[in-house]
Amino acid sequence: MRQKIVAGNWKMNKSLEEATILASEVKGMVADEVKGNVKVILCTPFPYLITINNLLGKDNHISVSAQNCSEFESGAYTGEVSAPMLKSIGIPYVILGHSERRQYFGEDAKLLAKKVDVSLKHQLIPIFCCGEPLEVREKGGHEALVKKQVEESLFHLDESAVQKVVIAYEPVWAIGTGKTATSQQAQDMHAVIRKHLASKYGQSVADTISILYGGSVNAANAKELFACPDVDGGLVGGASLKSREFTEIIKSI
Ligand code: PGA
Repeated sequence: MRQKIVAGNWKMNKSLEEATILASEVKGMVADEVKGNVKVILCTPFPYLITINNLLGKDNHISVSAQNCSEFESGAYTGEVSAPMLKSIGIPYVILGHSERRQYFGEDAKLLAKKVDVSLKHQLIPIFCCGEPLEVREKGGHEALVKKQVEESLFHLDESAVQKVVIAYEPVWAIGTGKTATSQQAQDMHAVIRKHLASKYGQSVADTISILYGGSVNAANAKELFACPDVDGGLVGGASLKSREFTEIIKSI
């Protein structure tokens, strides 16, 4: 059975104190209510990873993620954080290829393929983001673009490696805009991604890969989105910064 995941992407928000309070509140709720095949992931800024990881402790239902890592393993790359560093402090996940990284930091498919490789080499699970900008959807090019993004950064992986990756489909026009994809739009694209994975790796491999939806997920729309057969959870930005709303979203899964 595919893992269900609700990941909160805090982006560049919160002080250490605020982050600690939020993580404690979410942890309390998860301990009381989250059962079975569901994982909650808190994607915190780098400086808080160790603290939040320690605070969460060993719990199969909740863990932390980094929001990025370098394509290099070590060396003279001032300001960068490497996959081996994240591994050495016990971080299990890393978001790669978020549209904000692509847009503001010029990350492209080739670079992301390197980041995927270095993460997997150091046993970090990539949460690989893909998604189309509005003008591409308006011209009907969204399926082709997302397939290309997945292909260019993941299709060099072998069968066992690709099964470790979590994919997040996040239409750029839905991120932080309050404009969510309809559940039909989400389901359609998730099915396209899974079919594309199946064409390369076979259906049984494609069926093991969790595909999350991201883009203005909130407490009001999560249930309908998560009910779609190919939507295995969400990558939540703004609504993950408020413990009450985020815990409502977790309950929807
Ligand atoms: P949002 O962000 O939920 O605020 O739209 C989602 C994301 O960027 O991961």
